Amino acid sequence: MLLHLLCLVILGWRVNTTLAQFQNLEHISSEGITYELGDVLYFANSEYPQATGKIKKSKGGKAGHIDIYTPVTVIVTNQSVVTGAFLEETIDTYLNEDDVFTEQFLTSIYITSTSSVQLATMDNTSLEYLNQIGVDQLYLDSKVFRKTPNLAHTVRMSEQIALQPGPYTILVFGSTIQFLDTYRVYVDEYRSFITGSYPLNDGLDTYAPLESMYSRTWAPIVPVPSRIRFWNDPRPLAGKRVAIKDLFDIKGLQTSAGSQAWIRTHPVANSTAPAIQRLIDLGAVLVGKYKLAQFASSASPWDWTDAHHPFNPRGDGYLTCAGSSSGGGCSIAAYAWLDHAIGTDTGASMRRPAAVSGTYGNRPSQGMISLEGAVPLSWAADTIGVFGRDPISWSHFARSWYSSTPELHQNTSVTGLPPLSLTENHVFPSRILYPDEYFPMSNPAAQDLLDSALSKMTTLFNMTITHFNLSATITDASIFPDTNDNWDRLANDSIVINTWPQYHDVAQPLISAWADQHEGRFPPVDPPVRSLWPNLDFSVTNAENYDAAVQSRAVSIEWFEREVLLFDEAACSEALLVCDAGTGGLPSFRESKLNEGPNASFLYSYPEGAMIPCVAICALFGCADFTIPLGQVPYLSPVTKVTEQWPVVFNLIARRGCDFMLFDLVERMAEEGILAEVNTGMTAY
Ligand SMILES: *[C@@H]1O[C@H](CO)[C@@H](O)[C@H](O)[C@H]1NC(C)=O
Ligand SMILES: *[C@@H]1O[C@H](CO)[C@@H](O)[C@H](O)[C@H]1NC(C)=O
Ligand SMILES: *[C@@H]1O[C@H](CO)[C@@H](O)[C@H](O)[C@H]1NC(C)=O
Ligand SMILES: *[C@@H]1O[C@H](CO)[C@@H](O)[C@H](O)[C@H]1NC(C)=O
Ligand SMILES: *[C@@H]1O[C@H](CO)[C@@H](O)[C@H](O)[C@H]1NC(C)=O
Ligand SMILES: *[C@@H]1O[C@H](CO)[C@@H](O)[C@H](O)[C@H]1NC(C)=O
Ligand SMILES: *[C@@H]1O[C@H](CO)[C@@H](O)[C@H](O)[C@H]1NC(C)=O
Ligand SMILES: *[C@@H]1O[C@H](CO)[C@@H](O)[C@H](O)[C@H]1NC(C)=O
Repeated sequence: MLLHLLCLVILGWRVNTTLAQFQNLEHISSEGITYELGDVLYFANSEYPQATGKIKKSKGGKAGHIDIYTPVTVIVTNQSVVTGAFLEETIDTYLNEDDVFTEQFLTSIYITSTSSVQLATMDNTSLEYLNQIGVDQLYLDSKVFRKTPNLAHTVRMSEQIALQPGPYTILVFGSTIQFLDTYRVYVDEYRSFITGSYPLNDGLDTYAPLESMYSRTWAPIVPVPSRIRFWNDPRPLAGKRVAIKDLFDIKGLQTSAGSQAWIRTHPVANSTAPAIQRLIDLGAVLVGKYKLAQFASSASPWDWTDAHHPFNPRGDGYLTCAGSSSGGGCSIAAYAWLDHAIGTDTGASMRRPAAVSGTYGNRPSQGMISLEGAVPLSWAADTIGVFGRDPISWSHFARSWYSSTPELHQNTSVTGLPPLSLTENHVFPSRILYPDEYFPMSNPAAQDLLDSALSKMTTLFNMTITHFNLSATITDASIFPDTNDNWDRLANDSIVINTWPQYHDVAQPLISAWADQHEGRFPPVDPPVRSLWPNLDFSVTNAENYDAAVQSRAVSIEWFEREVLLFDEAACSEALLVCDAGTGGLPSFRESKLNEGPNASFLYSYPEGAMIPCVAICALFGCADFTIPLGQVPYLSPVTKVTEQWPVVFNLIARRGCDFMLFDLVERMAEEGILAEVNTGMTAY
């Protein structure tokens, strides 16, 4: 393994002053360099170095160049004698377990130590090894290494904060050496992101957009940190790379809600939504913001005017990503370098994007986590969920996040519901409720996958399946004290709950700000909201009716928890309700016309015998609803003219407050091989 001295290519210095005459400088926080090593693009944050030091001794005489950027490998040892074997093992681990680190970071090495070891020496095998792999510059922490070998530079760091291991870029000028946070830059080839982002490292938890793109394929670029940096970080989400729906404020980034008009009437966010800040506090790194259906609407891909709908990596490449968390499911299905995505679900906005991308995605119990700092659709019905590919890491991520936030539960004055009480339990429900009106799925091959999964579940957990008709149950029930027309009341409540908050907080302020700026004009927005907002009936959509609807919803949820999904002391939810947030195994495309006919499906279609689409159940009744991939079915693609694969999922629904039981159940099924990690790319399996 002999490395040659490599040439560092600096592609671009971004200097803000050239932009100053066009844009408010305060809003541009991105500054750094990009460079290529081999075929790989890197970004280094030169605005806020991670650490700065003074080169004290430079026997080799090679240091001290002016303004030289060089990739460097930082090694943190806990040994008092650094041996060649230790270095070799360390570097092999770096090479094998990280996608950011490459051999080309080995031209320079900086070695420091964990604080427990005060002094260390380099033995001669270590020097032999470094020589053998072609290291050009060796920097040693002067606090750790008193006796330094010839040719090594000793560095006195000025910061108290210990430098974490992994790849960095150093900038050497005079005797000063700066260590810059260095990111591998991936191309978002499915165009599911709005922007890449990185932590600015200004000590204020500010993020900066990566203000660049890959022009050749019109694609945003996304910077991801090395995993090595987080190996010693005990926080539960340390180093997790997460994409955020562009509905949430992140300090330093523009929130768009998918709308150019919104961008032009709102400044860059100066604080981070508490739910998202909690992810940062738990160690996650927000690598970018992803595309959504404008204002979290249910817009179909062909209704996207301001933005271009993201591309689904599955099947023929022209499948829908659904909405509104469109870029979340599709980016998780596309990129192994991305761990999780965060989205909101009011009507179906996590569960459908998960279904069509063949990924895991949840709508949590109503009230799980505050939506402060997110552009609202409905104060009482918005929820925040997580996308993932691997059932176990998905469950761990979501559990760590949700369980760290009891103080971020939504206020009962927001939900109109009793405080959320999350139970930890050690048994699972003994019954699966099977609503007959939703089955069988349209595609028999998909129904076979469901039957097989249910049969394995009932065996593993000793469950029984109870057939019933949920639609008929609701029709015949006594839910409300003042009406027997249950469907009419449920529909009335849900219309007001899902229109008044958005009108009050989003539409009205936007329409008025835009009119002020543009001589009375209506803002340019996508067709679904353009037709909705001016046609609201304010005798129905108003504050008073909203409050009444939230109270009425509480009554219907109380009924649901008394008659359908009952509380169980041991299992939390007496039963699980099974459903399908997908299309019953028929592909759904990004072009409207391709969804016509018997071999494809529109997303909003549902079986004739059902009164509501299955995704509406937990939107109405506040329950926890998880989309879970089961497999895939073949379809003849009208796009590629060959057979492709469409993902098949099912949904498991539990009573409000039973999310952790559902996550445990998913993990248990994964351990038994009933559920599996999905792949990225054209096929999930
Ligand atoms: C150094 O760290 C390794 C891995 O964590 C550990 O096995 C070893 O005991 C440590 N050595 C010392 C001297 O602390
Ligand atoms: C390395 O050190 C050992 C003992 O300190 C010594 O015997 C040996 O000759 C040294 N090897 C070289 C190449 O300097
Ligand atoms: C942050 O932004 C909000 C809304 O734009 C504004 O009202 C507030 O004054 C700003 N706060 C700071 C500290 O700049
Ligand atoms: C919940 O909201 C009410 C009314 O807005 C407020 O008085 C109360 O302090 C809030 N409770 C919490 C725990 O935030
Ligand atoms: C399975 O559940 C039934 C009740 O549904 C119970 O009678 C039986 O003992 C259970 N079997 C096991 C192995 O737990
Ligand atoms: C379920 O009930 C609905 C209406 O209450 C009815 O239209 C439908 O046919 C029933 N479906 C089944 C499978 O029983
Ligand atoms: C639903 O709303 C309509 C129109 O506002 C009203 O006429 C009807 O009585 C309501 N239905 C119920 C069951 O509340
Ligand atoms: C639907 O698929 C079936 C089976 O592949 C095929 O025979 C039929 O022609 C297709 N129908 C349409 C309208 O494409």
